Amino acid sequence: MKDLYIVANWKANKTTTEALEWLAGMSSGLADISSKKIIVCSPFISVATVSEFVKSNNLPIEVGAQDVSAFPLGAYTGEVPAALAAKHARYSIIGHSERRQNLGENDEVLQTKVKNAQGARIEPIFCIQNENTPVPAGVRIVAYEPIEAIGTGNPDTPEDAERVARAVKEKNGQVEHVLYGGSVTSENVSSFTKMDNISGVLVGGASLDPEEFSSIIKQC
Ligand code: PGA
Repeated sequence: MKDLYIVANWKANKTTTEALEWLAGMSSGLADISSKKIIVCSPFISVATVSEFVKSNNLPIEVGAQDVSAFPLGAYTGEVPAALAAKHARYSIIGHSERRQNLGENDEVLQTKVKNAQGARIEPIFCIQNENTPVPAGVRIVAYEPIEAIGTGNPDTPEDAERVARAVKEKNGQVEHVLYGGSVTSENVSSFTKMDNISGVLVGGASLDPEEFSSIIKQC
């Protein structure tokens, strides 16, 4: 059985209290995860608390951030440099289309972010919108997220996602895992994860409810 990455992207949702409630609600859904890697990406404000809860309760969950700064440590008010995020997070989403659109992040900035993450030993989960999105050097995990599928209830077809996953691996020799993201639910997750070149899913809306997320983990 192949390794599967099941990544929760809460986006700008959940207070720290709600994050802890979610983790408590998830405990039973984590009973038999076998070769599945569960990664939870909370807003920055809760990352340390999530990490401490996971550690002290011995949960089989890895902690991720939703971004890292393009800046190093220093006089950059409001930024969270990779060196700080790395105290709590082993992974980070980088290049999500919402950040490209809303914050104007371009390929050059994203390349810097990937470098910073790698320098701090954070594994980037690099989002691409199609097979032509440039993937920075050294990225091992890519998430294919077609914009029209995000938050719309209209996922890509598993066949098309598989086609893109294969093309991305062919173009970028260093990419080991391609995840699919965009309107993933417990109903459709297995149609994606059964594809040969798809190694998991990045889940937004459906990750907010611990019951639905547990069900996604079980179904794939
Ligand atoms: P969605 O979001 O599952 O709500 O479509 C996925 C994502 O943007 O990562």
